[in-house]
Amino acid sequence: MGAAALGASMLMTASQTRARVASHAERIEALIARMTIVEKAGQLNLVGDPFRFRPQNVNPLDGQGDPARVTGLIREGKVGNLFNGIGAEAGRRIQTIAVEQTRLGIPLLFAADIIHGLKTVFPVPLAEAAAFDPDLAYRTARAAALEGAASGVHQTYAPMVDVARDQRWGRVVEGAGEDVWLNEVLAAARTRGFQGERGLADRDALLATPKHFAAYSAAEGGMDYNTTDMSDATLRGVYLPPFQAAFDAGALSVMSGFNDLNGVPASGSRYLLTQILREEWGFEGFVVSDYTSEQELIAHGFAEDGRDAARIALMAGIDMSMVSGLFLEHIPDLVEKGDVPMARVDEAVRRVLTTKAALGLFDDPYRGCDPERERIVVGSQAHRDLAREAGVKSIVLLKNEGGVLPLKTAGQRIALIGPFADDIDNIFGPWTIWGDLSRRVSLEAGFRAAMADPSLLTVARGSDVEASLDGGIELALAAAREADVVVLALGESTRMSGEAQSRTEIDVPAPQRALAEAVAALGKPTVVLLRNGRALELSGAVKDAEAIVVTWFLGGEMGHAVADVVFGQASPSGRLPISFPHRSGQQPYSYDHKTTGRPADNSLATQEYVARYRETTNTALFPFGHGLTYGDVRYGLVTPAEATMAWGGEVELSVEVTNAGDRTVEETVQLYIRDRVASLTQPGRRLRDVRKVVLEPGQTRAVRLTLTRSQLEFIGAEGRPTVEPGLFDVWLSSSAQTGEPATLRLRAA
Ligand code: NOJ
Repeated sequence: MGAAALGASMLMTASQTRARVASHAERIEALIARMTIVEKAGQLNLVGDPFRFRPQNVNPLDGQGDPARVTGLIREGKVGNLFNGIGAEAGRRIQTIAVEQTRLGIPLLFAADIIHGLKTVFPVPLAEAAAFDPDLAYRTARAAALEGAASGVHQTYAPMVDVARDQRWGRVVEGAGEDVWLNEVLAAARTRGFQGERGLADRDALLATPKHFAAYSAAEGGMDYNTTDMSDATLRGVYLPPFQAAFDAGALSVMSGFNDLNGVPASGSRYLLTQILREEWGFEGFVVSDYTSEQELIAHGFAEDGRDAARIALMAGIDMSMVSGLFLEHIPDLVEKGDVPMARVDEAVRRVLTTKAALGLFDDPYRGCDPERERIVVGSQAHRDLAREAGVKSIVLLKNEGGVLPLKTAGQRIALIGPFADDIDNIFGPWTIWGDLSRRVSLEAGFRAAMADPSLLTVARGSDVEASLDGGIELALAAAREADVVVLALGESTRMSGEAQSRTEIDVPAPQRALAEAVAALGKPTVVLLRNGRALELSGAVKDAEAIVVTWFLGGEMGHAVADVVFGQASPSGRLPISFPHRSGQQPYSYDHKTTGRPADNSLATQEYVARYRETTNTALFPFGHGLTYGDVRYGLVTPAEATMAWGGEVELSVEVTNAGDRTVEETVQLYIRDRVASLTQPGRRLRDVRKVVLEPGQTRAVRLTLTRSQLEFIGAEGRPTVEPGLFDVWLSSSAQTGEPATLRLRAA
């Protein structure tokens, strides 16, 4: 869908949702007037679903819910919302309790962590970000929403829109990587994908919940849950824009963060949850705390006890409390003693009921509870095809010396070696709860299906992920000796990234490196297929392999998608949404770091008294935006080399891009700017736009991008968007570390 069509459909969605809400406004006020304080607290209480099967634990207290107890609480009006249960039939049964057996009959809201698919598992969000393709993100989110909604779910705790610049932080895998612009674009696309174009009450819509508000990803030392501390300009310039993009796209709920920010826990921050969210942005949806995050105000040393924590969180702007039960327990007393005004409780209840109305639950509380439809929609062939397409587009070719890739489907003996060679347990990646375990295509299965003569493939594990295997290396060497080419499938397991999976070193685990060294000693052409949920430090034989391919966690169709690229059925087109550093110790690292007062000449690691490390220049080994294809794409110089933009005007820039190879390829031309002199120091480069072009063999195309004044903005010292006249560098390049800039002068108003 084009931008204009998306914009129009968004407006339609918003107006349909508004009309529905307006038609229920009186009913909601009448309900609030009739509710007891306990019933009000119940609407703000969110409980883990104890009724439905959850094959995976994703939170500390999972599996501890007691169905009889929760049934009792629902009947008493003390639970208004459940999460992480799915299933249409059971949903109907549970909803019946709320609708028919409570005093007021208010329907329950069913939420779930549907992050990258439900039964059909799509690439992890970081992988999909590598496609630099909002339309793809929209389509996978739409498919996930179709499956979720058909399983009786109303709300998803996604997208995660935390800009992640420290690869030690395990949750990098859940978002769109290190760049602000890419995070904004994908936050909007995913929100629209989840919510659809026909209003939230549509049977295929899921309420989107951007998270974790705010700056959760800036955890010190990359350690999950850790403290964050930053200037307002950084908060507003880097961490908030993707949230704004999600709200502009219509998201009507948001989840608060676990972190403390500048000394105030995010889940108790009036500044974040009320001043910015409501007073500045006019957000109309509800705020849900993250799992027990309001209770954690006590451990933060910000609240004395549960009662105090509930008061602080509620007054700061949390509307719905996840799991802790503190709102239910303390709101009645807090209101009675005058510590929380009834008006604030009513406001939170109104937001929750209004969202339920927007979702159509007052019109049809059983929305989505149709087992027949669930059977047809969930895990459909169309969704599996989309998972394969998304997988192919997410793959990034880092290096391909001597054209070792693509491999031949016949006449070439291939040894597929490594812990992920035949693995199916580490295909989905983190944050899949209900993925279809019977649909997990291993690399081996994908290779065999793609090869004209599968008998030319031998497979050996060689090593486990984090431990060596007895005799593993010998078996691997035996396989490699017989082969013409070796493919090493190395990297991280699912459990090594995701929530609470921070690492001090972002390397390939030592036993796998030992395997790679042993294999490299044979001197066979080697391809490394990386499995990863973050950028990795590459070294030794892994780094020196002829070809390196980033294959992430691609979901259920992983083996097919990788084989499509490795055997040349498709040309690789993905780009890194995160920088691969030279060394772990460079973290936090993002391409758009400041230049400092002593910028290094990055060709000289030996330069003294400049911003560098003893061991390496402060650049990336493989930069943000980097990604090769089969063939050779060449860039000309940006024209005009010098341009002037009037204050109200715009400038068109152009670059000639040539496909000097013999296959059709897709190139992602990236527009970067640098504000040379500003009232706040600015990044050395900032991405402002990209253009994807398809190039036939031998074809040259002039790729044009238009730059406007608003793209030159930054967040100034006052916390507001600012543009300052003067000189800018502008690149149209293939990555954040390539190309020669043109010069742009922005004239004063
Ligand atoms: C904690 C995670 O931080 C959050 O992202 C998730 O949505 C909740 N748990 C619910 O499972």
